[in-house]
Amino acid sequence: MGASFLSSPSTFVATILFVLVNVWHCHGIARHYKFDIKKQDVTHLCKTKSMITVNGKFPGPPVVAREGDQVVVEVVNHVKNNASIHWHGIRQLGSPWSDGPSYITQCPIQTGQSYVYNFTIKGQRGTLWWHAHISWLRATLYGPLIILPKKNDCYPFPKPHEEKTIMFGEWWYNDTEAVISQALQSGGGPNVSDAYTFNGFPGPLYNSCTGARGLADTYRLKVQPGKTYLLRLINAALNDDLFFSIANHTMTVVEADALYVKPFETDILLITPGQTTNVLLKTKPNPTQAKYLMAVSPYFTGSGTFDNTTAAAILEYDTPQNPTSTDTITGVTAKDLPRLPSVNDTSFVANFSNKFRSLNNAQFPVDVPQKVDKQFFFTVGLGTNPCPKNQKCQGPNNNTKFAATVNNISMALPSKAILQSYFFGQNDGIFSASFPQFPINEFNYTGTPPNNTNVVNGTTQVMVIPYNTSVEVVMQDTSVVSAESHPLHLHGYNFYVVGQGYGNFNPNKDPAKYNLVDPVERNTVAVPSGGWVAIRFRADNPGVWFMHCHFEVHISWGLRMAWVVLDGKLPNQKVPPPPADLPKC
Ligand code: C2O
Repeated sequence: MGASFLSSPSTFVATILFVLVNVWHCHGIARHYKFDIKKQDVTHLCKTKSMITVNGKFPGPPVVAREGDQVVVEVVNHVKNNASIHWHGIRQLGSPWSDGPSYITQCPIQTGQSYVYNFTIKGQRGTLWWHAHISWLRATLYGPLIILPKKNDCYPFPKPHEEKTIMFGEWWYNDTEAVISQALQSGGGPNVSDAYTFNGFPGPLYNSCTGARGLADTYRLKVQPGKTYLLRLINAALNDDLFFSIANHTMTVVEADALYVKPFETDILLITPGQTTNVLLKTKPNPTQAKYLMAVSPYFTGSGTFDNTTAAAILEYDTPQNPTSTDTITGVTAKDLPRLPSVNDTSFVANFSNKFRSLNNAQFPVDVPQKVDKQFFFTVGLGTNPCPKNQKCQGPNNNTKFAATVNNISMALPSKAILQSYFFGQNDGIFSASFPQFPINEFNYTGTPPNNTNVVNGTTQVMVIPYNTSVEVVMQDTSVVSAESHPLHLHGYNFYVVGQGYGNFNPNKDPAKYNLVDPVERNTVAVPSGGWVAIRFRADNPGVWFMHCHFEVHISWGLRMAWVVLDGKLPNQKVPPPPADLPKC
């Protein structure tokens, strides 16, 4: 009877060692960073621009940690604009005050002020990223957030020779804060970016003054023949879904949004803003060329204008015959570009997104709720606001302002953080618990739009749910103004994508087709243009969690809402008190 592990001294020692090693592993280490938000001159495409950066870098510095580590980032704001930083995809279990969206979990950090984000990475590993979460500051305030597996854990795929991170973004000649404030004033669509970028570089396809077809302005990925590389791809663009491909190479997708997937091969990827994709790239053992082009181009189904350019970068083989050189890129032509789908190739996108499945092995099992406690049906899409008197507006259908909504509510941001107001139980009226479970007015969502396209405006309504509720949300795109794909992102959670389709969701037929075996788990999912997507998650993380379209223009127009997940009974199931340095409004 009793403690059988004490049966022999050597087993006892082994047990103690085992326990010690595990304790040591479980605790991880603290990773400290300092982010100085400051202006920096950055030059691309012949123009120098003073932009808001972290530590003078564009893109910003990577945050690297292991699963189980504590990440501590002191953010100091040296610019005129208010700012806050969001750790996109981090679940923030027990640290809801470190999530970062301005007016949701914190007031923004004001000029000259600082705030320390402090969170522990629990049960997550993979590629995420960080970005500013106020107005359009994330245009230049973004960087990778790489979570390596615990020390002795392996990847569920062959160990890569090297790992590289590529962030897709945009280059704007103009100040993006001016772009969005002008658009909100006129009611029209905002100006679009001037170029797409690879790690900040627009590449040789754009007009450049740097000679040699913009080599200095080009991102070059140096590789050796016959090796496997892990590429961590992140779409940090403000407003554009992006196709990505590498000429004459195939990739194997192994992870999406820091969650492992069943590997599959593809020549072309589609990544929405907010999403990340890890791929394995096997380089050619005997490349016939020293350089191959990589390219990104937009996927767009809406009706406004968009940045319809293609950006390229170079995959460069480092071989004895082709020593890495600073030579010029001669004669880059369209035929050197990888094949990319046409701009509105929705069938490619549907096909591609259907390939994602959770890895679902013993170590990373699927835990999708088989039964749901609460079902939600949210329309997502565009709409209009009437033009103020004495003004001419440039929105759709003649003299309106663009708006965007969830269940026809264009959410107004409050003057204080919702989490603060909720935590202190102040009935200060900055939000109401009245967000509708279903659309208030039903209509043929993807058919002919109703005559009245006006939205509900100026309210901050949240959906309150008890701790541990099993939630299903069907998100339905609408054709109001125009059907369009919307990358919906949920803070504080990953969710399972159990179904999707075109047209209107059919509650009698569609649930039968759900994948409840190995659905992909993510933090950002594209609601198909003119279609719907169904997600499920268990509300095991108390706090206030933002959900919004990750197109910055749509978030500005109000395509956003928040969940309040109530405390559970146990002490570790409650929102902790805020840190002392939480910014004030
Ligand atoms: Cu990456 Cu609320 O967003």
